[in-house]
Amino acid sequence: METDVITIDGPTSSGKNSVGLLLSQKLRFQFIDSGSIYRAGCIFLLRNNISPDSLQKVVDVYKNLDIKIRDQKFFANGEDVTDNLHDPDVTKIVSAISAIRQVREAVKIIQYKITEGKNTVMTGRDIGSEIFPKAVHKFYLTADIKIRAQRRFEQLVKKDPTIKYETVLKDMQERDKKDTDREVSPLRIPEGAIIIDNSNLDIEQTVEEMSKHINA
Ligand code: DC
Repeated sequence: METDVITIDGPTSSGKNSVGLLLSQKLRFQFIDSGSIYRAGCIFLLRNNISPDSLQKVVDVYKNLDIKIRDQKFFANGEDVTDNLHDPDVTKIVSAISAIRQVREAVKIIQYKITEGKNTVMTGRDIGSEIFPKAVHKFYLTADIKIRAQRRFEQLVKKDPTIKYETVLKDMQERDKKDTDREVSPLRIPEGAIIIDNSNLDIEQTVEEMSKHINA
């Protein structure tokens, strides 16, 4: 049987990871959040004090990055980094790092390696456009930015009760702009992708909507 990859792209907090995980469980596919690959590299950059401006050193970290996913735990170079992927200092630099062409090339190789022979649901910004343009099922998830900011705020306020919704909204507007305006692989709707606006849908309802398209 040929390997099947379902791609889900979309802006930050569009629900793609919660939706992608549930869809993968229903289909018994592996789930890969490609943002975690970019984030895992950032953990090593920060740990080794490598400045985002040291291009060659940054690229080398990604070229040597060994990624494995087991039971939804994310291992980078043999270490379980799952709990650090969303550390604020990682989030701060990841947009700039993921805009580097050579970093994206190195991550592309990792993406092909970890999907080899495995049916996969992969989420990201360029999965249906650049990484698996021939995928049979491609989705683009989106939601109103105020709703996305509210979702992110509810996650963050659990860790930091002083955080303000307005700050989260502003950060999200900036991140959307960076992801959309960058020269290399900008966030865009992949050709042939089914667009789902889930502003008024919960995770289950979004997966149901996708399943209808997959089964059609
Ligand atoms: O989805 P996320 O917030 O974990 O993604 C982190 C960053 O990585 C985000 O700024 C965009 C970038 N990214 C990307 O450029 N391409 C992908 N396929 C996935 C993420």
